[in-house]
Amino acid sequence: MATAYELALEKVKNGTKPEVVAAELVDSMTLEEKVHCLDGAVPFWIGIKDITTGGYHSRPFRAAKVERLGIPGFHFSDGPRGVVVGEATAFPVSMARGATFDPELETRVGDAIGKELRTIGADLYGGICVNLLRHPAWGRAQETYGEDPHHVGEMGAGLTRGAQRHVMATLKHFALNSMENARFGVDVTVDERTLHEVYLPHFKRIVDEGVACVMTAYNSVNGHWCSQSEELLAEILRGEWGFTGFVISDWIFGVRDGVKSLQAGLDVEMPYRMIRNAPIVAALAEGLITEKLVASAVTRTIATMLKFNIGKLSVRDRSVVLCKEHLILSQEVAEKSMVLLKNESVGGATLLPLELKPGSKIAMFGRLAAARNIGDGGSSDVMAPNVVTPLIGVGEHFSNCEVVYEPGANLEEQARLAKQSDVAIVVVGYTKEEEGEFIGDSEDTVDMVKQIPRQDDPVLASEYEKYMRENHHYAPDELRIKSRNGTFSIGGDRESIRLLDADVQMIRAVAKVQPRTIVVIVAGSAVVMSEWINEVPAVVMGWYSGINGGRALANILSGAVNPSGRLPFVIPHDESHLPFFDRNAKKITYDYWHGQWKLDRDGNEAMFPFGFGCSYTQFLVSSPTIETNEVVKFRCEVSNTGSRDGATVVQVYAGRNDSLLERPKRRLVAFKRVELRAGETKHVECTASLQSLATRDTKTHSWFIEDGLWNFEIAQFSGDPKALPIELSISKRIDL
Ligand code: BGC
Repeated sequence: MATAYELALEKVKNGTKPEVVAAELVDSMTLEEKVHCLDGAVPFWIGIKDITTGGYHSRPFRAAKVERLGIPGFHFSDGPRGVVVGEATAFPVSMARGATFDPELETRVGDAIGKELRTIGADLYGGICVNLLRHPAWGRAQETYGEDPHHVGEMGAGLTRGAQRHVMATLKHFALNSMENARFGVDVTVDERTLHEVYLPHFKRIVDEGVACVMTAYNSVNGHWCSQSEELLAEILRGEWGFTGFVISDWIFGVRDGVKSLQAGLDVEMPYRMIRNAPIVAALAEGLITEKLVASAVTRTIATMLKFNIGKLSVRDRSVVLCKEHLILSQEVAEKSMVLLKNESVGGATLLPLELKPGSKIAMFGRLAAARNIGDGGSSDVMAPNVVTPLIGVGEHFSNCEVVYEPGANLEEQARLAKQSDVAIVVVGYTKEEEGEFIGDSEDTVDMVKQIPRQDDPVLASEYEKYMRENHHYAPDELRIKSRNGTFSIGGDRESIRLLDADVQMIRAVAKVQPRTIVVIVAGSAVVMSEWINEVPAVVMGWYSGINGGRALANILSGAVNPSGRLPFVIPHDESHLPFFDRNAKKITYDYWHGQWKLDRDGNEAMFPFGFGCSYTQFLVSSPTIETNEVVKFRCEVSNTGSRDGATVVQVYAGRNDSLLERPKRRLVAFKRVELRAGETKHVECTASLQSLATRDTKTHSWFIEDGLWNFEIAQFSGDPKALPIELSISKRIDL
């Protein structure tokens, strides 16, 4: 016999609105069943035991299941670079994918991850992370796409489109979660224009794309914890943007005040029954909140599940995991993501692509050349087997050459090998130890532990409390999350955005004796390079590049693939050109200015601007036109004037010379990646929405487009001297 939930699905299929059907279903639930849907299915202590003994990588997190009515609940699993449960295909990290400037490619990544998620029974994907890169020291920079709201929004929308072909997706972390060590305690102060014009447009873009679920951030904004912020959840997300999906909290210790969180519109506390169950039950008993309030939260969750056919999604065979198609896709993405930053002539020709005679000697240096180093060790950790390191990739590709390797401990040996070789490749940067999600001690959660009911496992609870009293630890060592890869790393924000001293010394030692030295950087975002960059002719941003990253790197170095990645952030000459960053801040103000916008405002030239990347060929943009109606259309011709096939990214920047308002000198409003054969010319069209030109009116809390002369540039990077100017005159302020 069909369950009540199955009948509800039928009704939705037959055209009744999911909200209406869900409300009926919720009506038939007991109060206890409704309350049960407000948090993760497992009591805290049991959950914590599970997650700390490998559970994180073993099974999805479940919530909102009501057996009596056949409601299957949802099953959540991360994350941005691939599925975290069991073995899975590791894609290059999101920041690398941001460098492709290719939302359609990102849709293919989402599609692949969505398919792999369906092999582990997950139906809610946790990987749409789009917090803005305000400062490159942010430990989780690698999980987002970059510093620019338009670009981040388009990339995140691409991933959402692909993943939601198979599962529901979660947009996170709402909002202003752009620092890591302090995430549990920091309060971010932000004014209305900055909030809406800088830190939220990309969230709105993905809500418009139809994302099913939003995850709140740990931090607070303007004095209110995100999980209980009326402003963020009720006014902006649901009120202004019309979001109809459901809202979940960030994981352990993501909710402070259970009742307030429910009142603000947080539907499910994840991942366990933690902070809010007891106070909600008490508030209901005392009549401080109504059953209707509970029902409306549950209705939102169940309506979304019905809309996405949860419980009836096809389960995929494990053969899709790590299948050939996904491995090839991961490599394609890695190839399109790598950014050639510098490529000077050595002995009359650019050092790259490498032209090596059979029998040539390639020297590779650095601990990272031979390391399995595909990203952080926090919630986005993917257990990919057989990762192709740079050393393996180069060795395979240049099989007719001799490849020698020194990890980096012995500078003299390095110099000796470098001198004897035809070319040196130095792989430098970071690992999950230097940057990543912070899974360490945080004094900010000590008080929260006290709110967790102890009855689930009193012995473990009291042991835990004793430990907390004595050690001020976030979790006892013996409870540190273990995965098959070893121990979850502590990660956190970078201590410095320079390379480690040992890496700098290694670059110097090698470059001093070997003029043909290539530096490959493995990092999740910008690295300040001023102290060594003039000593080497070639630099490649290689990122955490996924399961086949080493092969992609070899193809880029050899020229089998022409580099086409573009920086999704600025690289400054000096860290002082970036905004203030204190990884232990309790309070911080995010103003309008970060990244390329800040450098432009302060008159600081970038070492490598936003959108920049070299190629082995050249491109020419010509014949720009502009047309406006519902949207703004930019058209131009793009030619590959060199002798190799390649790809460039046409980027349209908006600016105002005569604005009465403070605004960026150049703001990205549209972009398009274009592939061109040698000698080929293509007609390219890029579309900007009117909203991308809009300013927030802080008096009326609405949007308008400023009148006057708009100066657009059709460019290949921000500040491109060859950019083509094109103007648009708006005679009268437009209210949107
Ligand atoms: C992270 C989230 C993640 C969640 C579940 C949290 O610690 O902040 O991004 O989705 O864990 O893995």
